[in-house]
Amino acid sequence: MALTYANYLKLDRLLDLQDVRSDPPEHDEMLFIIIHQTYELWFKLMLHELDKAGRDLSSNDMYGAIATFKRLRTIMKTLVGQLDILETMTPMSFTSFRDRLETSSGFQSVQFREFECVVGVKRAEMLKHCDRSAPNFQRLQRRLHERSVVDHFYDFLAHRGVEIPQELQNRNLSESTRANEQIQEGVYQLYISQPDVAILFELMTDFDEGQQEWRYRHTKVVERTIGNKQGTGGSLGVEFLKRTLFLPIFPDLWAIRHRL
Ligand code: HEM
Repeated sequence: MALTYANYLKLDRLLDLQDVRSDPPEHDEMLFIIIHQTYELWFKLMLHELDKAGRDLSSNDMYGAIATFKRLRTIMKTLVGQLDILETMTPMSFTSFRDRLETSSGFQSVQFREFECVVGVKRAEMLKHCDRSAPNFQRLQRRLHERSVVDHFYDFLAHRGVEIPQELQNRNLSESTRANEQIQEGVYQLYISQPDVAILFELMTDFDEGQQEWRYRHTKVVERTIGNKQGTGGSLGVEFLKRTLFLPIFPDLWAIRHRL
């Protein structure tokens, strides 16, 4: 069979994956399913790009890293922007099919947890919400104990002459990133002496700001759609989500800005 647009993209399978559970079908459930599926596709691409970002940084490929972070930050902006579409769904409309979601929740997104691990937000306790039988669950468990993009960032800094403190070189990889003053000093020196490296750091900051924006916008979508109701995943809902606002990926890039 000749290759076509449809069979290259496996559209017959892709477009057959939107099963609304409400009966009779609630109009907005289709939006709810498609938006989540779209997010999962973008998460897949981000994980793919973040793996490349790690390789770029560790191999001191600055132009590669610039191109990769430019793409990552652009995907992130799209993820934030897409929430506008979801906000066209009213609370009444969501209520009409919410009980059909039972206990399913974004809490269980294995790829979102993978994303967190790869960017150095290691919340081991969150893995218990994920479906252990999901095909990518083992990869998630592996990523929890692997180096994050921040560890690869330290490699890049080392290539550029920054001394990486022993406690960071021998750190427990299953723990989240911690800010470090010695790293901050190295980053500051590079910022003021190497303008091309500063371009990369600005793109990394854009990406980091973007993921914080996503957390904020998601929390507001939740607040305007379900108010102070509990989440279907069993958390306190908005109160739980607020705890992760302003959580940076690269704390050392933020810590020095007043000096620049
Ligand atoms: C009306 C729309 C939405 C509502 C009401 C909603 C609600 C919630 C709530 C209440 C939680 C906390 C966990 C729980 O108890 O369930 C949560 C977590 C989460 N949601 Fe949503 N959500 C919505 C849309 C989305 C969309 C479009 C995505 C895109 C992937 C998403 C991804 C996530 C993720 C990844 C988490 C885990 C966040 C974390 O652990 O920090 N949600 N959501």
